[in-house]
Amino acid sequence: MTDSLTVRDNRTGAEYEIPITDGTIKAADLGQIKLNDDTPGLATYDPGFVNTASCRSSVTYIDGEAGILEYRGYPIEQLAEKSNFLEVAYLLVHGDLPSKEQYDNWVHHITYHTFVHENVKAFMQGFRYDAHPMGMLMASVGALSTFYPEAANISDPDNRQIQIIRMIAKMPTLGAWAFRHAQGKPYVYPDNDLSYAENFMSMLFKMSEVKYDPDPRIAKALDTLFILHADHEQNCSTNAVRSVGSSQVDPYSAVSAGIGALFGPLHGGANEAVLKMLRRIGSKSEIPAFIEGVKAGNERLMGFGHRVYKNYDPRAKIIKKACDDVFEVTGVNPLLEVAQELEKIALEDEYFVKRKLYPNVDFYSGLIYEALEFPPEMFTVLFAIGRTPGWLAQWLELVQDKEQKIARPKQIYTGERKLDFVPAAERWA
Ligand code: CMC
Repeated sequence: MTDSLTVRDNRTGAEYEIPITDGTIKAADLGQIKLNDDTPGLATYDPGFVNTASCRSSVTYIDGEAGILEYRGYPIEQLAEKSNFLEVAYLLVHGDLPSKEQYDNWVHHITYHTFVHENVKAFMQGFRYDAHPMGMLMASVGALSTFYPEAANISDPDNRQIQIIRMIAKMPTLGAWAFRHAQGKPYVYPDNDLSYAENFMSMLFKMSEVKYDPDPRIAKALDTLFILHADHEQNCSTNAVRSVGSSQVDPYSAVSAGIGALFGPLHGGANEAVLKMLRRIGSKSEIPAFIEGVKAGNERLMGFGHRVYKNYDPRAKIIKKACDDVFEVTGVNPLLEVAQELEKIALEDEYFVKRKLYPNVDFYSGLIYEALEFPPEMFTVLFAIGRTPGWLAQWLELVQDKEQKIARPKQIYTGERKLDFVPAAERWA
């Protein structure tokens, strides 16, 4: 067997031998296939990158048919059950699990970089009272590049590490402040005695008490949710981070672009959309009419379907279980019944079965977030905090990858050519 592809161009009769490596051909190799020397070579057309690998990566493995997700080779189920978010963040960023000393050092540094410059607080306060927290997060992460201009020196490994630590450390602070802003409450400074998730809860919920006392079960559930969201290979926001990062801009600007991508309802914004959908459906009796509307193409069943998973999203399974732990503390979210019935009906319906549409990570996460009294606008912020180590691990891989180039796709031009410009004064005469 030869690892190559023989291509015959039926326009010219010419044959080409194109090497196959790792189940892919290089799109650039198709460039040699030409009608004649004056025409451009053959290119691929792939809107949405449905069948194009953009990089080599050793961060996350997904088998969508089998419903498998692994970070650096470790199954998500084991990490969610036996690890914690900061250890998983170390694993993603460094590629291996930490020794005790490496772990302690990592946690220490992240804990001691949770504070932000007071001017960050001042400009966050300048947002309108009803500003969406994702907009605030995107802007404030981008603005961090102005506080750390040395971050632009992306070729220095030590410099890269400190920016990575800063970003993972400050994300909960910025997210919590965006939440407090919407409520008109004073911003709470980080408490470095608490764990990552506990400190986040303190910055979200602390009022006049001297020290916030987090419920460990809620802190554990939040930590697990962060782990589940920590990376997901070349998804839309990671692709945005890589694409913007490929211009060699600083990591704050690149991650800020990722936050923008995550904001959209087809990506991280889906959990907000799920909850709004469940509220609108309201009760089990309304489900059949809603499903008919989805099948008629009026709208999508949010929290269902995935570009990669054609099976149950493994993260959705773990979240479903986390729901039980959280509801033990908060009481059952009445929308859970609607969600479970919706899932049952959809999984038996020909429309969803035929298209292999299963619940994804966002289907149940919103119910937990609501039980924790987060408004829907905050859901994607929680996703962003969890995804930060993944974005940074992918960014780190990108900037060290000699094969990478500035992201610059081709297009198929469909517009006019060679028109003669007539000045406005003549056109409007
Ligand atoms: N409800 C109803 N129909 C759907 C849905 C859905 N949620 N998802 C896909 N379909 C249909 C779609 O209409 C199409 O049908 P047809 O072949 O008849 O035209 C078929 O399934 C394939 O859909 P697609 O849009 O070509 O698939 P895609 O891979 O481009 O889209 C997706 C993936 C996640 C954007 C899509 O499934 C979707 O819009 N889901 C709802 C939004 C959502 O839950 N997003 C969160 C994704 S997981 C977290 C994350 O990555 O951020």
